[in-house]
Amino acid sequence: MLASISGSDGQTIVREQIREFRIKENDQYTLWNYDTPTPYHKNLYGSHPFYLEHRLDTGKSHGVFLRNSNGMDINTTQSSITYQIIGGIIDFYFFMGPDPEMVVSQYLDLIGRPAVPPYWSLGFHQCRWGYKDLQNLEDVVANYSKANIPLETIWNDIDYMDKFKDFTFDPENFPVEKMQNFVKNLHSNNQHYVVIVDPGIAIDKNYTPYTEGLQKDVFIKNHKGEVFTGKVWPGFTTYPDFLNTDTISWWGEQMKKFLRMVAIDGIWLDMNEASNFCDGECKTEKDEVKLSLDLEPDGGMLQFDPNNPPYAINNQNGKYPLNKKTLDMDAYHHVDNTNILVYNTHNLYGLTECISTRKALLQINPDQRPFILSRSTFPASGVYAAHWTGDNHATWDDIYVSVPDMLNFQLFGIPFVGSDICGFNGDTTEELCGRWMALGAFYPFSRNHNINTGVPQEAYRWESVASISREMLMIRYRLLPYLYTQFVLANKGSELPSHQMATVVKPLFFKFPKDEYSLSVDWQFFFGPAVMVSQVFQSNTNMLKVYFPPGKWYDWFTQEIIISTDKGLNKTLSTPKDKIQLHVLGGNILTTQAPGMTTTECRKGDFSLLIALDNSYKADGLLYLDDGFTINTKSFVYIQYTAKPDGVGNTVIHAVVTKKSGKCLDLQVPNLNTVTVLGLKNKPLNVEVNGVALKTDSYSFTKKILKISKLTISMEAEWNMKIVEAK
Ligand code: NOJ
Repeated sequence: MLASISGSDGQTIVREQIREFRIKENDQYTLWNYDTPTPYHKNLYGSHPFYLEHRLDTGKSHGVFLRNSNGMDINTTQSSITYQIIGGIIDFYFFMGPDPEMVVSQYLDLIGRPAVPPYWSLGFHQCRWGYKDLQNLEDVVANYSKANIPLETIWNDIDYMDKFKDFTFDPENFPVEKMQNFVKNLHSNNQHYVVIVDPGIAIDKNYTPYTEGLQKDVFIKNHKGEVFTGKVWPGFTTYPDFLNTDTISWWGEQMKKFLRMVAIDGIWLDMNEASNFCDGECKTEKDEVKLSLDLEPDGGMLQFDPNNPPYAINNQNGKYPLNKKTLDMDAYHHVDNTNILVYNTHNLYGLTECISTRKALLQINPDQRPFILSRSTFPASGVYAAHWTGDNHATWDDIYVSVPDMLNFQLFGIPFVGSDICGFNGDTTEELCGRWMALGAFYPFSRNHNINTGVPQEAYRWESVASISREMLMIRYRLLPYLYTQFVLANKGSELPSHQMATVVKPLFFKFPKDEYSLSVDWQFFFGPAVMVSQVFQSNTNMLKVYFPPGKWYDWFTQEIIISTDKGLNKTLSTPKDKIQLHVLGGNILTTQAPGMTTTECRKGDFSLLIALDNSYKADGLLYLDDGFTINTKSFVYIQYTAKPDGVGNTVIHAVVTKKSGKCLDLQVPNLNTVTVLGLKNKPLNVEVNGVALKTDSYSFTKKILKISKLTISMEAEWNMKIVEAK
């Protein structure tokens, strides 16, 4: 099947996951979920047949989505896009924007808006393949605490399992009783525990998930109608048929027993492309290396060998058959008395596993937001799960690529995303890991993870890395209310009275749609609407060229104006290893909170406002607060802040509060204690809150920074502040 759109003369198209941000002309993009250490320009773990085209002359964008889960090649020329699809239907959607954020928001209205994460999951996570026993885990947690680096969540990779079998704990190295205690202690310190679960279910007649699964007939079948056998970590495995409702309830039962055993806080879904160490079915070791395919096409279903259809998509640029490192394409699901070929569902496997897992977790804790991290994704995955970008490398190339990767997933409706901090494959270095911890503090999902063969890379391993991690994670934690608000806005869309938001971090051109240079920048990004993050991606470099789009910019650290420009410009800034560049765009009001070592502690800190005025002395900002864990809560506070001149020489700040329900949050909401105003035109003579003048010793004005402290303003009521300025 072939569909083509022609006449597209736009400047930039943002594309599916192949590790660049811009689609190139005369190129090919293959969508076929595949497990491989992140390569450049090859199909990877997820498929998103969506692109956004942006036109500079008008500053307008539109989006195009082909709702089709079959394998496809997408070919681009200067003036056309051609889809070569090997099945399914042609079902195109066009999103008219007109601005980029609106395009994404309209797309999310179709595929589903991303889940609001539990507040705790916005904290910093430490993982590694190779935490070989409980002692090892305990040491890592203790070392973080000793080093005074915040650690919210400790993770276990497959090491915790008994012979790599899902839903088990290794009785020797991770005995259940001790694990229960360990998790209890973590919880009493307001820390969390997440473990990996793979879809492959070990074939072992003494293993209940397998025997119960056989009994309930929940596994994918081969073309002969037998349970399909592949091979993953535990050896030969079956694959749950997540399209089948019996499978969903069987999976739910396994999860329930598992979580009753140990009070795990979240589930990490790996290998769900679905990955297989064999090319198609294997039943013996010999089959594992089989290269030629001897499969019979299924007479009733397809008239060709589904692993090698007449049009071969460009799987891994190597024309691999479709069953390379995954299931056979003539294996099938069983849904409502119908057999559905894996040929048609392959790209949906990870998504359907996420749907089943979320359902399972909600059955266990109906009121609580589940935390799920998935490697494989498809449109709508963000409704159910967060995503990490898979097996990257501890290289300077890959720290850079993590930025476009993360930005792509904003367009795909999975804003809760991040790359393995310090790099997964290979050995990281002190310098790279320091730069990466600083950058990763501003990923929506912030997790350090590496392979079992790499050098240990926890943030406390080097004093310089510990020090920058401490500082940057404290900034992240200070900004948690602001970050959390972006997630809620992406989730609610037009439900809240505001401009429709869809992304949590943003490419520069989302905010500067007519600025040509912004369109080319995929190495800097906005963390939320206001904070621009720029990092060094080279060894032995202390200087960084930072691009500033038109506007008034403040240095986060000094709070001073760094640039006020009506044309974008590059400025080279000293950025030694203990620094990252953070700039606040004038026109924004940010809410921050005094940080602590865990997100629970952070929720108790006093609030502050940072008001960064633009060149017309205006700013605005939004804040959403709720208990941070109840799903679909109706109890929240939503604040719209504005700051503007009143026309007679004063700056007036106004907080309009929408409050839902009587008892609103889980704890006494701390007060607003400090307001900092940047960029005032004149010296303030007098500051009034709700018409009452403040004592002059409660504020200071140096370097054009007005800092008002010792306030006790409630976050749950409307208020205003007048700054009377000298003429
Ligand atoms: C592959 C995953 O991408 C990686 O993160 C994990 O550590 C290994 N599988 C082992 O489970």
